[in-house]
Amino acid sequence: MGAAMAPEAARKPGIGYSLPRREDDRFIRGQGTFVADVTAPRMAHMAVLRSPLARARIRSINATRAFTLPGVLVVITGDLLARRNLAWMPTLSGDVQSVLAVDEVRFQGQEVACVVAEDPYTAHDALQLIEVDYEPLPALVDPTEALSPDAPLVRADKPDNRCYEWETGDLDATDHAFQEAAHVTTLDTYYPRCHPAPLECCACLADVDPDQGRARIYLTSQAPHAHRTILAQLMGLPEHQVQIISPDIGGAFGNKVPIYPGYVVATAASLLIGKPVKWVEDRSENLISTGFARDYYMSGELALRNDGRMLGLRVKMLSDNGAFYADAQPTKFRAGLFHIVTGSYDLPAAHVETDGAYTNKAPGGVAYRCSFRVTEASYLIERLVESAALEMNMDPTEIRLKNFIQPEQFPYMSATGFEYDSGNYPRAMQVALDKLGYKELRKEQAEKRKKGELMGIGVASFTEVVGAGPGKHYDIAGLRMFDSAELRVHPTGKAILKLGVKSQGQGHETTFAQIVTEELGIPAADIEVQEGDTDNTPYGLGTYASRSTPVGGAATAVVSRKLRDKAKIIAAHLLEASAADIEFDHGKFFVRGSPSKSKTIQDVAFAAYTNLPDGLEAGLEGVTYYDPPNMTYPFGTYLVVVDIDRGTGQVKVRRMVAVDDCGVRINPMVVEGQIHGGLTEGFGIAFMELITFDEEGNCLGSNFTDYLLPTSWETPKFEMGETVTPSPHHPIGAKGVGESATVGSPAAYVNAVIDAVGHLGIRNIDMPVTSDKVWAALKEKGAAE
Ligand code: CDP
Repeated sequence: MGAAMAPEAARKPGIGYSLPRREDDRFIRGQGTFVADVTAPRMAHMAVLRSPLARARIRSINATRAFTLPGVLVVITGDLLARRNLAWMPTLSGDVQSVLAVDEVRFQGQEVACVVAEDPYTAHDALQLIEVDYEPLPALVDPTEALSPDAPLVRADKPDNRCYEWETGDLDATDHAFQEAAHVTTLDTYYPRCHPAPLECCACLADVDPDQGRARIYLTSQAPHAHRTILAQLMGLPEHQVQIISPDIGGAFGNKVPIYPGYVVATAASLLIGKPVKWVEDRSENLISTGFARDYYMSGELALRNDGRMLGLRVKMLSDNGAFYADAQPTKFRAGLFHIVTGSYDLPAAHVETDGAYTNKAPGGVAYRCSFRVTEASYLIERLVESAALEMNMDPTEIRLKNFIQPEQFPYMSATGFEYDSGNYPRAMQVALDKLGYKELRKEQAEKRKKGELMGIGVASFTEVVGAGPGKHYDIAGLRMFDSAELRVHPTGKAILKLGVKSQGQGHETTFAQIVTEELGIPAADIEVQEGDTDNTPYGLGTYASRSTPVGGAATAVVSRKLRDKAKIIAAHLLEASAADIEFDHGKFFVRGSPSKSKTIQDVAFAAYTNLPDGLEAGLEGVTYYDPPNMTYPFGTYLVVVDIDRGTGQVKVRRMVAVDDCGVRINPMVVEGQIHGGLTEGFGIAFMELITFDEEGNCLGSNFTDYLLPTSWETPKFEMGETVTPSPHHPIGAKGVGESATVGSPAAYVNAVIDAVGHLGIRNIDMPVTSDKVWAALKEKGAAE
């Protein structure tokens, strides 16, 4: 590759350090000879130059002209990073990813160079002045093609473009089930590439003091502790001097789990120039280059008896992971938790085979409001069951009821090796059917059908799996998936709860305080919940995949109980009784049988610092690192009613009933908010959202004009219901809920459409189910007006 930066830049006064005289030293604390530009403002701003091409060789980069703009401080290229071994970084899935492209660009929007300037406008303007000489190469955009033997290589270190190969289940038992079957339903479907599109994009403010070696990095991070460990290792910074602060980050939905090149370069730039460096991504950058989701090609086969009883499931799946496997997947689970593909059904045999392919697209596969690929699995099984019902002329509720895992079968071992903790699927379905008035609507549908009108009722009875660990099976970049809570009760009875998870708007401040209130009796208003600052919270793996309540919530309950045990000893001392005789109820400690003579938690907290029994350590505080014994399995039944216009193909969602079971609900209002959000995102995915690519690898859908998110105008009204089946292994019986609605609802929406048009011979319309696709399908069957 040609010159990394223009030599003239080095001679310019004030910006000489853009080509540091001893640039190699700049990455070694305390050894640099760099003299800061005292005239520059305290904070610098970074902008990223991105590749316009999906695949090209970089012949040279010339940044000379960038330095003609006053205020440009430094231009960082892959070459500069390569000299400090920083051009590539590890990903959370055990792959490597280019920080800034050195030899070749591998997707449109890939980071090629960064400009750091005194203000953001100058930094962005300077990008136009960097000359990159690209030699365009043909892009590989189809994952099936990518795996063919003569395909060009996306990466030299991946000789067959294969990202992973993984299988589970019992092949022989499954083959046998298919031999026994009276009916086999098959479905080929594509779960399209979509994007979490949080309200705020990614951002970083890195403040590294090269002399003290201390780094404070404000980061849009769902996993601040894990990010600290990885950034410290990557940058060669001592971990105890790296502080990650993840403040309110404007939503995330999985988009803010990966480590992005912008974070690394901003940190390197701050180390280089000795000033804080701020990088804020814009919307197109976020849509084109960060954390895509899904992109799964799935083929399912369901073997059934004549009466509709399921015998076996066979699945083949191919995922398009883009140029780097850069999302987060536990080491042992290369295709995430796709095992849940057997869903809510008592399937005696199953076999799943998966392949992942590298292509010239931005790295994808983040668990967008989903627990590591559960969404795709749930979609496939619920669509397959719908097809089977249609082919076997059964009601979609009847086939499900016939095959549900029964309440008495829990804990239930699935054919893919997951132990479901608890469930009552028939009950959740019944609540949903009653709420909808299912039978009446079926009659209405039959009447309408006679008149040629298209009305459909979609059913999805999903089962999710959330709350990873246990740590011995699940990890992120080798870090075991436990989580933590630290609780400190002050003398006046006010408490601070510090957590290893990190809310992005899920209401942890409310719900986790409620757990402490329930367990210790301290009013929620007296509890401060702190998250997201690694200097100030115990180590945890973070918030994604609905793991906060199953793991962090459990840690909170357990640490509260630890404090309660100590509080009982102190209360016994105050009440002049034996600790074994002390009982606790709603914040009061009393001697068994004498509830009128009691001490409050506030009395006990004060005594913990002022009046202790001999030999007992002062204070009332503790920390718990909770490693869950199993994951939790929330479930539900979603029902959707649609009307379809034969003239335009337009689908109108008339009703949407969602009955969820997430075990014990800590805060029903927060849970309802979570489900509303998820149903809306599920609606967007089912009907509107699509990021696709042309044959040259140009991303179509890099702005909100092309990538359509639902607004209040399109979003249907939701009718909610609930059942409560506690998790037997969670300390308070709670399961996660944050993802349930995004996992369960897309199949319900699509099933409703297919239910409306299935009698015409239409078996599948891939998401997003847009009017033109529906109209084309109707036209093909001679049913469009
Ligand atoms: O990990 P994340 O916070 O995204 O998901 P979650 O654990 O499912 O929790 C989402 C929100 O719902 C949190 O504020 C939870 O405490 C609350 N929640 C609840 O109140 N009851 C439940 N059974 C599950 C979650």
